[in-house]
Amino acid sequence: MVNGDEGKLAYRGYNIEDLARESTFEETAYLLIHGALPTADQLSAFSRDLASHRKLPSAFIASLDMLPLNTPPMAILQAGVSLLAGYDPDIYDESMEANQRKAIRAIGLMPTIIAAWKRLKNNQGPVEPDESLPHAANFLYMIRGRKPAEATARFMDVSMILHAEHTFNASTFTSRVVASTGADMYASLAAGIGALSGPLHGGANAQVMRNLLDTKDPERVEAWVEDQFKRGKRVSGMGHAVYKTIDPRARILQNMAQSVVKDHPEYRWYEMTERMALATQDVFRKKKGKDIYPNVDLYSASVYHAMGIHHEFFPAVFAMSRSAGWCAHILEEKFPHPPVKPALYRPESKYAGPPERKYVPIEER
Ligand code: ACO
Repeated sequence: MVNGDEGKLAYRGYNIEDLARESTFEETAYLLIHGALPTADQLSAFSRDLASHRKLPSAFIASLDMLPLNTPPMAILQAGVSLLAGYDPDIYDESMEANQRKAIRAIGLMPTIIAAWKRLKNNQGPVEPDESLPHAANFLYMIRGRKPAEATARFMDVSMILHAEHTFNASTFTSRVVASTGADMYASLAAGIGALSGPLHGGANAQVMRNLLDTKDPERVEAWVEDQFKRGKRVSGMGHAVYKTIDPRARILQNMAQSVVKDHPEYRWYEMTERMALATQDVFRKKKGKDIYPNVDLYSASVYHAMGIHHEFFPAVFAMSRSAGWCAHILEEKFPHPPVKPALYRPESKYAGPPERKYVPIEER
């Protein structure tokens, strides 16, 4: 549930602030998929299950290794998730139970695909997942080759919780449209990844970092923002189609970001983020006579950067987090409550092209 006017977000009725403070990605994923918070036994079984599905087949890694190194991480993830269909023993089973198993496998494997591609791109061997680590910490371990500090792992965990679900946004809607045709879980997820990759949606976090790097000097932030507006460009990480006040996820990340990076040599990017938000709000108010607020993509950028994740990978980190929400929506599309007859999405459109006309043979044109 999203309330854009009041800046509220809840997953299955649970407030996002409570989930960010108390929950873990594993518990949140369970909540989204099963509709209720797990008991301790259910959570440990779910976490074990997820951890046991993190390892990619060696043939899959070998096929990644043959791809051009400049393939964008989101293209790798989209293609990789499609290819997981071939490795899934349940692929032709469309029962609820089989689809839940596919969801666990997809959520478990997406971080490994991203981390493996990051390592291969940097001419490093992929790091095998560690089943003893929580989901977020294991991702950082596979990316960096060393176990993360507790605060760093918790930031990634909370960031994954905050990115896990957001009702009918563009990518979730895309996944549901594909699922509504009866397409399988992986095809539906891959479509969502494609929709998320654009700079107006999940690509915005990478653009935030590009903008910070482009600005370079904290003293240049205000002039850079003025220039963006002069050129009719948007400042990434600012504004939201639904929230008319600060995105609650941005506020949570902002509070955590500062404490995670405050003693880090890359702290200046966080400071510049704050300046960029203020400068954008200032110019926006002057030009449009109204307010604009940070969205979820603003504050993750400088922290992911400080964690050693290259910004080209930021949208993929968003996608692996959103996988939980996508899977929940795909399951709901396939198994609606209360059960209704399956229906394809088929929006009406207003034709605005030429009227009916006679076909002209090519030699007469
Ligand atoms: N910077 C500058 N101007 C902006 C921004 C921005 N970030 N966002 C909106 N505006 C301006 C628009 O240019 C428009 O001006 P106009 O009325 O003079 O034409 C006005 O504000 C309203 O813009 P809309 O596109 O109608 O607003 P909407 O609420 O639909 O846009 C969107 C939402 C697409 C997210 C927009 O704010 C944007 O492009 N932000 C930057 C990209 C970004 O951060 N995306 C991530 C969103 S969160 C997510 O997807 C996970």
